[in-house]
Order: sequence, then C-alpha cells, then structure tokens
Amino acid sequence: MRYRFVRERENYEDYASGRVFVGMPGNPAFPVRLASEVLQRCAAIHRAEGHRGPFRVYDPCCGAAYHLVVIGYLHIGQIRKITGSDIDAEALALAERNLGMLSLAGLERRMAELAGMRDAFGKRSHAEAVVSASRLRNRLLACPVEQHPQTRLFLGDATSQAALTRELRGEAVDIVFTDVPYGWRSGWRIETRDVLPDASVLWLMLESLLGVASGRTVVAVAADKAQNIVHEGYERLQRLRAGKRQIAILRPLTGHGRALGPGSDEVDNPAHAGG
Ligand SMILES: C[S@@+](CC[C@H](N)C(=O)[O-])C[C@H]1O[C@@H](n2cnc3c(N)ncnc32)[C@H](O)[C@@H]1O
Repeated sequence: MRYRFVRERENYEDYASGRVFVGMPGNPAFPVRLASEVLQRCAAIHRAEGHRGPFRVYDPCCGAAYHLVVIGYLHIGQIRKITGSDIDAEALALAERNLGMLSLAGLERRMAELAGMRDAFGKRSHAEAVVSASRLRNRLLACPVEQHPQTRLFLGDATSQAALTRELRGEAVDIVFTDVPYGWRSGWRIETRDVLPDASVLWLMLESLLGVASGRTVVAVAADKAQNIVHEGYERLQRLRAGKRQIAILRPLTGHGRALGPGSDEVDNPAHAGG
C-alpha cells in the first residue's frame, strides 16, 4: 500500500509491543506505522469536512488496546477520548495497563516497574525499556495535561447493539478504529449466538456499530483477507492492503432508514480545516 501520511519509515522502537506497552499474547502486534497512517486517513476525512478534532476514538474489539495506546501517544493532542471494549476480561486487564500509561502517573508506575526489573535482573531489554519510557514521558510532558486523551474501557460483545448503545449512551464517536479477530479460530467470540461463519460475525459487529455511529463517524476495520468487510448500511471510502491485513474505511449511510447514534457537536468552518 502507498502511505499518504507516514511516508518515511521511522524508528518506532519506543512503541514496540512488549517493551513499555504490552501486547495480546498470541496475536501479532498491529504495526505502528500502519496504525498511524489509518488514524491520519480517518482524521483527514473529518478535516476535509470541517471537523478539526480532537477526535473521539472507539474500538469495540480493543484487546490489549496496544494500537490504541500507540496512536494515543503518536497523535497526542489530536485525540480527545479513547474508548475500548472487548468480550474478554483478561484482554481488558491488559488494555487497562496500556491505556493507563496515557497518564503521567500510569506511565511513571510502569517506569518504576521496568527500573525495578532492570536493577533486579540486569537485562539490557529492561534498561532499553526504561529509556523508551522516559522518552514517552517527555512526549506526555510536552503536551498540556488537558489535551491528554481521556480513556474508558468496558466489557462487551461487539456484535450486541444493545450492549454498545447502553454503554456509550449518547456519546458521540468520531472514529471507530478496530482490528478484529483474525479468523474464527483465532478469536471471534459471541455471547448470544452459536456458530456463524466469520463474515457474518463481522457483519454483526458493523450492524451493532450503527447504533453508536452517526452519519459522520468514520469506521476503519482491519481484518485478515479472508473476511469480508461489507455491510449494506455503509459506503466504503477506502480500502488498503498491508501484508496479511486488509483495512476498509467505511462511513455509515444516513439514508439507510436506520436510527444512527448521536452526532458529534463539533463542526468547524471548513475554511479553517487543517487538511
Ligand atoms: C486482534 S485482537 C485486538 C488486538 C488489539 N488491536 C491490540 O492492539 O491489542 C481482537 C480482539 O477481539 C476480541 N473479540 C473477539 N470477539 C469479540 C466480540 N464478539 N466482541 C468484542 N471483542 C471480541 C478478542 O477478545 C481480542 O481481544
């Protein structure tokens, strides 16, 4: 794929899964450059329509929230709120650790933990992680605290519209950015229904997102190439392929005769949009 925003490969070692931030055991970490590109493509769609942000981002299959904490740091100041949900309580415990590091107190706790391990075991990897954490800390300190993203997590089945609407109750979502389970065996779980083919589970998630999205929400879904990212209630704005992943950037169709969720209240004059 052609990167429009992150044109150069940068050094993302501070963001590597397992260094300061934790990843989902058994799941390939979402590539940092790709996460940044997708977020910026979604933000650019909003900006072209006069919505400058900062944006509220939601991920209904957040796992360890690894890619969420990464975009939270890389685009600090541009993200107002990060909300994540997952069906798995253990994944949410990891997500809590990661998103907690978007606050100074949470990051300093992690730094102390890493420094303790460095001193106890004398390993180079721990020493390098402490250095990375201190660079992340500088990033946080450089941004006014009121611009640090707020965070929220909840347990919920992404295919249950009732669960999502209950939890998000009237909260506007500007960007959905989710990295869904890769194939049936590697993780789709649903509470209310029995076995369905993968494509149907993804369709059900898109269906339930219509309850919390507005006609302005931009929905980016990353999946393996075997799953079909389609739903008749959305138009596809962009499609990207990166390695084993495909990413579809969608927008709910407002004329679809559906009750869409609340819209965002922040429309700026397009003349002032940041591109
Ligand atoms: C590929 S992982 C997400 C990893 C995440 N992007 C990260 O960076 O840490 C997919 C997640 O979807 C979750 N999941 C599976 N079925 C779900 C469902 N019906 N509702 C919500 N989450 C679900 C799994 O528990 C898993 O944590």
